[in-house]
Amino acid sequence: MIFDNLLILAGAGIIAGGAYLLGRYRNIPAKPHPESSNFESSQGELQDDHAFVNGETGKTAAPPEDFSDNVSWLPDAITILDHDLNLIWGNSMAETWFGFSNSGHAHSDFTELVKSSEIREFLLGKGYPESLECFSPENPDIALRLRFLPYKNRQYLLQARDITRIKALENIRRDFIANASHELRTPVSILYGYLEMMSEKKGSGISSEWRQAIKHMHKQTIRIKQIIEDMSMLTRLESPKTPNPPEALDMGELIESTSNNAGALSGKGSHSILTKVNANYDLLGNRSEIESLVSNLVSNAIHYTPAKGRITIKWDVKSSGGTLSIADTGIGIEKQELSRITERFYRIDSSRSRNTSGTGLGLAIVNHIVNRNNARLRIKSIPQKGSVFSVTFPRSRIQPNNRSTDLLLG
Ligand SMILES: Nc1ncnc2c1ncn2[C@@H]1O[C@H](COP(=O)(O)OP(=O)(O)OP(=O)(O)O)[C@@H](O)[C@H]1O
Ligand SMILES: [Mg+2]
Repeated sequence: MIFDNLLILAGAGIIAGGAYLLGRYRNIPAKPHPESSNFESSQGELQDDHAFVNGETGKTAAPPEDFSDNVSWLPDAITILDHDLNLIWGNSMAETWFGFSNSGHAHSDFTELVKSSEIREFLLGKGYPESLECFSPENPDIALRLRFLPYKNRQYLLQARDITRIKALENIRRDFIANASHELRTPVSILYGYLEMMSEKKGSGISSEWRQAIKHMHKQTIRIKQIIEDMSMLTRLESPKTPNPPEALDMGELIESTSNNAGALSGKGSHSILTKVNANYDLLGNRSEIESLVSNLVSNAIHYTPAKGRITIKWDVKSSGGTLSIADTGIGIEKQELSRITERFYRIDSSRSRNTSGTGLGLAIVNHIVNRNNARLRIKSIPQKGSVFSVTFPRSRIQPNNRSTDLLLG
């Protein structure tokens, strides 16, 4: 993650450097072209789309040495396109990865030159601020991350970076989690089954000393089972496979059943759990994902709220979308921790929590589900006062149901 951020910073630096150099080049008076009689006017053209191309002959203009020296050595591909997406110039990395040559393809429509419909669509959608991860159209072994930025005088700058190694590491991590959770599932289930039988066994067959040990082992296998479940859930959420088609979820019913489970988790009514639901609107989503999202947030609210605290679960719909929020009056989260708590296995000092048996996967799962549903997660928290986790789903995911008399979303 840190490595990735550094790369992004380095990338921004490279683009800024490239842009600066391009800017510098564009202010350098060009030498008169010996074959061109109207050079004065084409020199004026240096300020517009054809900065690198002599418009009269159609030949590639050689960029000044300092520019080509500085941009050509970059490990990134840099390509400059005019406002109609015609090629102006690219460094040698760009020529290799996208399969063009400055001398042969100057002025050509870049969206036709590049042999990838994915890249074509990305450019036509005018990219920025999105980025695209794809393979080089010339070499499918090279994974690239593309950024397409507006550049001076209605031109565009296409930057591509080799992320093959990062992708390979991501795959190793994903495969490891998938394999480990799959392989551990059976042996742990067997251990769990026997320990459960033994802990339920009545009578004198087991000494009180062993009975205590078996109880502990049983509790720990339940925890391992939960970690394996969370790891499998993460694997499923990270897989590029499209999820099942969304179904209309009755949020009133879903929240009701989650709050009943939460009541059991809280134990002997030690928290008061309130629900406020706009039952006129369903959420279009995948049931198991949305159930997991709600139950992770609600179980956190219970775990991190001392006894007698209050938990409020709301489903609220406005014309802009639907918001699920879970508010608690618990221990809260320090400001500096907020940006980290959705990372995998990240837990704030576990000694501060009532229940120390968590793994730090719950909010990572929530975050994945939020992204898969084009939703937004907001966290507000005041230490020692409480927290509010809200997830806002876009309007396209909200549907009035047959109980609805409300015409908000028409
Ligand atoms: N409602 C909350 N109030 C205070 N702290 C919270 C709350 N929700 C999450 N946290 C903090 O964020 C950390 C990460 O939460 P997350 O749900 O990812 O992991 P966990 O609860 O520790 O373990 P699990 O994987 O079992 O959910 C928690 O360890 C806790 O310190
Ligand atoms: Mg949790």
